[in-house]
Amino acid sequence: MFLLLLTFTAPLLLVWVYVRWLKVKRYWADRGVPFVPPNPLLGNLTFLQRYNSGIWMRNLYHSYRRPYVGIWLFWRPALVVNSVEIGRRVLISDAAFFRDRLVTSGDSDPIGKYNLFTVKEPVWSSLRRRLTPVFTAAKLRSMHSLVNMKTKELMQRIQNDMTESQSVNLRKVFTDYTTDVIGGVSLGFVGEATLSGRGPLRTVTQQFMDYDFFRGVSWLLMFFWPTWVNFFGLTAFPKSSIDILKRVYQTALTQRGGYETEVKETRDLLDALIKIKQDRARDNEDMPEEKLIAHTAVFVLGGFDTTATVLSWCVYELAFHPEIQENMYIELLNLQEDEEKLKDFDAGSLSNLSYLNAVIDDHV
Ligand code: HEM
Repeated sequence: MFLLLLTFTAPLLLVWVYVRWLKVKRYWADRGVPFVPPNPLLGNLTFLQRYNSGIWMRNLYHSYRRPYVGIWLFWRPALVVNSVEIGRRVLISDAAFFRDRLVTSGDSDPIGKYNLFTVKEPVWSSLRRRLTPVFTAAKLRSMHSLVNMKTKELMQRIQNDMTESQSVNLRKVFTDYTTDVIGGVSLGFVGEATLSGRGPLRTVTQQFMDYDFFRGVSWLLMFFWPTWVNFFGLTAFPKSSIDILKRVYQTALTQRGGYETEVKETRDLLDALIKIKQDRARDNEDMPEEKLIAHTAVFVLGGFDTTATVLSWCVYELAFHPEIQENMYIELLNLQEDEEKLKDFDAGSLSNLSYLNAVIDDHV
């Protein structure tokens, strides 16, 4: 009986899939949009696990040179915008129509699902309003002494490594440094990774960076096929890294006096999270700590690897272009005159250095 049923239904199913596929692959042609021919299984994601998505995007831009190009993420149509004017409309004037990111995690992964990067409207707007004050220029200036201290440690570390082994792994050292900085500026948790290469938050950032095949697939599905994330019970971050991050968070919270402490002024992320918890409590609503730790996880993730990568590529390129290094140095000297004071710049004057900023922008 089963065989008979299969004999009749299998061809029907195949025909259904084929007809559906024909419809999917006509999507952009029907709308008169230039498109990259899709693969029947992966759409245009055939480059994944083979080369970097940035290189793929650049190739796409150079091959088509059109204001927009249609692609498919598996079978889901998506539009790549190549025009500054359209980009501006998406991000500014028409932003209300382009609210949510597709990326999300499953119900079994609150840290991956409820952070600022993955939450959807209307939660995103309200959270963003609460967390934006953490990023003002004045806040960044107030964190300057911590950044300065860590920068001096960074120079010391590079000297130490050179003395000990005549070489320095700058990618690793910059990651030690940015881990300390992001821990300090977001939670007031000042680590020791810049000098020692170790520490609880550094273990977290190391585990965040460790990608194996399974984690690659998890992120792939979170970005492009979120419905399957729940089905397979996947998580954005390794469980052990989140356990350590929770301990770091609780240590920082205890040092600040817990959730009952009065927050007069929101100085950093932790203050903003404490305030969210208190305001919810006033409205008799519960705010699970996991949701607060979710924002911490995404701040740490967003803060350490991005900046360490930019620093690494900047220094790498500068090594090949001593003339650009020299120009940067002269620009700094013009500002400060006294070479000794070069170690004590404040964020405000650094942001006025157009040459230095152009070099950094080129690597972001
Ligand atoms: C070179 C440095 C950085 C680069 C290139 C970078 C890049 C990005 C990009 C491309 C996005 C997504 C924008 C979008 O989808 O609309 C983003 C979002 C985000 N980044 Fe960064 N980022 C950097 C530094 C940082 C730092 C230092 C932090 C934390 C202190 C951070 C925290 C975040 C957060 C929380 C979001 C989500 C924002 C939201 O949804 O409102 N990023 N970043």
